[in-house]
Amino acid sequence: MLEQWFEGKVALVTGGADGIGREAALLFARRGGMVAVADVNSDAGEQTCEMITAEHGTSAFFHTDVASKDSVARFVSGAVDRFGRIDVAFNNAGITDPRDDSWDDAAFERTLAINLAGVNQCMKEQIPHMLRSGGGAIVNTSSIHGFIANPALFLPAYTASKHAVIGLTKAVALQYAKDNMRVNALCPGVTATAMIRQTMDRDEAARKMIEGHAPIGRVADPREVAEAAIWLASGAASFITGHALVVDGGFLAQ
Ligand SMILES: NC(=O)c1ccc[n+]([C@@H]2O[C@H](COP(=O)([O-])OP(=O)(O)OC[C@H]3O[C@@H](n4cnc5c(N)ncnc54)[C@H](O)[C@@H]3O)[C@@H](O)[C@H]2O)c1
Repeated sequence: MLEQWFEGKVALVTGGADGIGREAALLFARRGGMVAVADVNSDAGEQTCEMITAEHGTSAFFHTDVASKDSVARFVSGAVDRFGRIDVAFNNAGITDPRDDSWDDAAFERTLAINLAGVNQCMKEQIPHMLRSGGGAIVNTSSIHGFIANPALFLPAYTASKHAVIGLTKAVALQYAKDNMRVNALCPGVTATAMIRQTMDRDEAARKMIEGHAPIGRVADPREVAEAAIWLASGAASFITGHALVVDGGFLAQ
């Protein structure tokens, strides 16, 4: 029996329809949490909830575009209406835009709107509810691209957005450090999700670079990354705030 870290608690997950977010939603539920799943992809998001139900967990799906302030507000208030409180949030929705490598203006705006402004807006809506119930824990998804740029893959907007998520996380962590609120960033290395498959399929050089990137000799399974996220959100990580946790198979150690 897994330790029920989130028994009686409510966890919000954005980007919960696929990849790391879906795995995290499942893990939150397996550890006793009630899960509010948000995504732009309704079919796959509903599917995540069906998977949770099949394991006798509790969840609800909220169609949400994190780039829209109204949509984020509806998600957070909807989750509170449904479950009564918010204890934990995994602000994880993110994209790479295929036009980013050509320094495209629309790609820049879209990437920043989702990867950075989306995280900011989620926290703005979530924190007041967490404070009302005595505190909480937030994990925001950054990346190894929050620390470095990749010379083999020009992704200016993505790299900027993920660096900024770490700065934003630290600022909010310090602001609420005395309020029983912990705010951390999760920095995955290359993880076998749709996002990465899209980049790997782009050209052979990218594929080779991705497959050989980590000293551990493989890409991560999304579940390995989600395990780190839910640990960071749990009471087991009670003295950790303002931290950027790297989960990269040793990539940044090189
Ligand atoms: N896969 C990797 O190698 C990798 C590495 C580092 C960081 N990350 C980060 O991890 C996070 C999750 O990525 P993933 O690899 O699981 O990708 P994924 O594509 O499998 O999942 C991302 C989810 O976010 C959703 N989403 C996209 N735009 C959205 C929006 N505007 N509003 C709400 N939901 C939206 C998608 O529909 C999808 O379900 C992202 O922030 C990504 O930048 C991934």
